[in-house]
Amino acid sequence: MQLTNEELKNKINEYKKKLSVTLVAHFYQRDEVFDMADITGDSLELAIRTRDDDAEFVVFCGVGFMGQSVKVLSPNKRVLMPKVACCAMATMIDGTQFDASVKALNESGITNENILPITYINSNADVKAKVGEMGGLVCTSSNAKKIITTALKEGKKILFVPDRCLGQNIANQMGLRSCVIGDGSNPADSDIICFNGFCSVHQLFSVDDINFYRKKFPGILIATHPECDPAICDASDFVGSTSQLIKYITELPAEQKVAVGTEFNMVNRLRPNNTYILSSTKPECPTMNETTLQDVYDILKSIDEGEPLNEIHVDDNTQKWAKIALERMLAL
Ligand code: 13P
Ligand code: SF4
Repeated sequence: MQLTNEELKNKINEYKKKLSVTLVAHFYQRDEVFDMADITGDSLELAIRTRDDDAEFVVFCGVGFMGQSVKVLSPNKRVLMPKVACCAMATMIDGTQFDASVKALNESGITNENILPITYINSNADVKAKVGEMGGLVCTSSNAKKIITTALKEGKKILFVPDRCLGQNIANQMGLRSCVIGDGSNPADSDIICFNGFCSVHQLFSVDDINFYRKKFPGILIATHPECDPAICDASDFVGSTSQLIKYITELPAEQKVAVGTEFNMVNRLRPNNTYILSSTKPECPTMNETTLQDVYDILKSIDEGEPLNEIHVDDNTQKWAKIALERMLAL
């Protein structure tokens, strides 16, 4: 018999009391799943707080690279995902495409010694490992500027994967030259050379949406995530990671209107009034939305029955180098 959401919540709470488990959720999770979590946050906060947590099992409600990052940082933890849902952007690059990107830079005269690769955390462990092995590191949307600023001190060209928007947005903020591999420009003329990956959810926002809201509500503020196109971020009043957006928006005066360019579940729980989604198309991350209360319950039940489902495993070599790339970020 199908359990109601209330029944599922009660059973999940019972399992949480009984088992050595921490339930983790990203801000884009459905409300009913998000409400059950012990730890919530943006990608950086989730990586740090789950690493520092001492439960035997981590049940991660998010997308694959997030659960995988926990496993890479803490190989002794058992990490399970109620749905092994993939971030579409992370699937745009694998190790082979990373190697091809390095080759494209080599062909324009940039030697490996002069390349410092940085991967957005929204990438799979094999790409993080390649980056770690080449002396590079990971960044998230909340620390990308800091990581790039530090990396540039090495005097090298930055190969930024997979998100062209985040890479170019940071380059614009810092007054640096950037390009996208394959856009016809010479990588040697740029400081940050980006792989051509993107988030389909954040591509839904347009400058027309911004113009629409500014005309409809003069004085409205526009707040966007740096996975949006540079044209959107350049026209925004504030650009930040999910946690940074939450802080900015919740600290606005109650009467200040704001239109937000990021995933709808998060925007809808920010403020009761004067908060709008910056798109006429619902910005829904389909894979983040896959996880249901029933999935969370099923995973906890599988732990209790001694046969955990959907456990994340990373092979030793990938784990070693991906961990180095993640730890270089955390050290900063
Ligand atoms: P944050 O690091 O800002 O939480 O972003 C993760 C993400 O996938 C946004 O689409
Ligand atoms: Fe990936 Fe975009 Fe979903 Fe974030 S919103 S998890 S970048 S597909």
